[in-house]
Amino acid sequence: MKTLVGIDDIASYVPKLYLEAEELAKARGIDPNKIVKGIGIEQLSIPDVYEDAATMAAMATLRLMEKNDLQPKDIDFIHVATESSPDAAKPISCYVLGMLEQRYGGGSFAHIGAPETKFACVGATYAMIDRLAYLASGWNQRKYAIVVGTDIAKYDINSSGEPTQGAAAVALLLGKNPRLMVYEPAFTSFGTVDDRDFFRPIEHTTAVYDGHYSIGCYLRNMRIAADAYKKKMFNSQGLKTLQSSLNDQIDLISFHCPFPKMVEYAFASFLIHDWRGLPKWNKLLDSTGPEPDRAGMSDIEFYISKKYSAFRKNFTKTKEFLHEYEEKVVNSLSALKLIGNSYTASVWLGVINQFEKQRDDLEGKRFGIGSYGSGSSAIICSFIVQPGYKEVVTNLNLMGALSQRHRISIEHYERLHNRKLELHESILPPKNEFTLDHIGKDRNNIGYRYYKFIE
Ligand code: HMG
Repeated sequence: MKTLVGIDDIASYVPKLYLEAEELAKARGIDPNKIVKGIGIEQLSIPDVYEDAATMAAMATLRLMEKNDLQPKDIDFIHVATESSPDAAKPISCYVLGMLEQRYGGGSFAHIGAPETKFACVGATYAMIDRLAYLASGWNQRKYAIVVGTDIAKYDINSSGEPTQGAAAVALLLGKNPRLMVYEPAFTSFGTVDDRDFFRPIEHTTAVYDGHYSIGCYLRNMRIAADAYKKKMFNSQGLKTLQSSLNDQIDLISFHCPFPKMVEYAFASFLIHDWRGLPKWNKLLDSTGPEPDRAGMSDIEFYISKKYSAFRKNFTKTKEFLHEYEEKVVNSLSALKLIGNSYTASVWLGVINQFEKQRDDLEGKRFGIGSYGSGSSAIICSFIVQPGYKEVVTNLNLMGALSQRHRISIEHYERLHNRKLELHESILPPKNEFTLDHIGKDRNNIGYRYYKFIE
């Protein structure tokens, strides 16, 4: 019999501080509507001075373990994906292990594997596939593996990316016969191109990027992956013909969300591509106007052209688009509007949000994941929601955590961003959490990070 593997439970951690997008807009002299309506961000999640990608990952993992009554002996791997690592050699996963041992006892995790994966925002999805494959192979010695996506999205002050900043971590509990969703490995597909859309050279603390170009890369790679996914589904007889709608096979979707408007662009581009050959297409063109000609243009030139953007915008106003968007996508975005980009964690926060917000019975539904990482790679994969999801979703608590955050002023935000505060000068006093205590300064430990749990 086939081994069913997938996601058993998910936990998240979002910093307790946030900045109102409107306050940022005022400080930068831009129309607040550009951020709130134009790109879809209402609040930005901001880490306090003692937080980094490692503390956030440790917090998400601790929550996952506590709510499932897990002990270190139950776990084979803690596999962390991040692009916010403070170290080019030591993986964040080892720092996380050290922090968890402060709770579970020295040496309690010595048996686990603890790698770190890097591929911009798509890293956690790559890590998840690796760990699911390991579980499916039967090589695992313990029941579960944990995959963590943890990131702080940081751009220069006054740059176009600044309003999309954010921070969060997500921990996925992976196992056999999972309660939440079973993975469909046969359809998993990739769209990968060596590109320069967004990167962060080792010596930089903020990303280097070409904003509009990166939108084109996201859309191009998603299309390559979606075409491959569709072909695999057709080959396994899940689709009648290659012209059939792939959208009809998918009930819910979470896309990587650098900012919520990007998800609208992505879903619209997906539907335009999916519906082009269907009988309803010509009728749709009556409301959108003709699809622009792409002759002589590269994929990216086309996707970021004014003509295509205008056509896509018209398409997003059709009742056919709005119906699908409301049904399948919108519920993934409520939390993401209040967090901003969180790179590797983003697509999984969308998954949590879908489960928290959906009121329909989801058992047996196909949940699609559209993960993208600059550099560049898209992964499209899917899961089938299991009966046990009803028990799991009662304890996800993402929206609840967001409602308890503390608003900070633009002055505090800028001091945190520019690293003007010492580790002991936090905005809020830490409580029941892991903190960065100090950083080594001596010859043998310069740059080494020391963490402490504060009761
Ligand atoms: P921008 O260029 O300043 O904004 O920044 P814009 O001029 O493109 O406007 C954005 C939207 O706001 C437009 O909507 C405007 O019309 C609207 P659209 O027409 O496209 O529907 N707008 C307004 N709406 C209402 N009132 C107004 C107003 N003014 C304008 N007054 C950009 C946008 C995305 C380029 C910028 O935020 C940026 O550079 N972000 C960073 C890069 C990024 O997020 N790229 C996304 C794709 S790549 C990716 O997802 C990977 C990533 O997560 C990293 C990783 O993988 O590690 C980034």
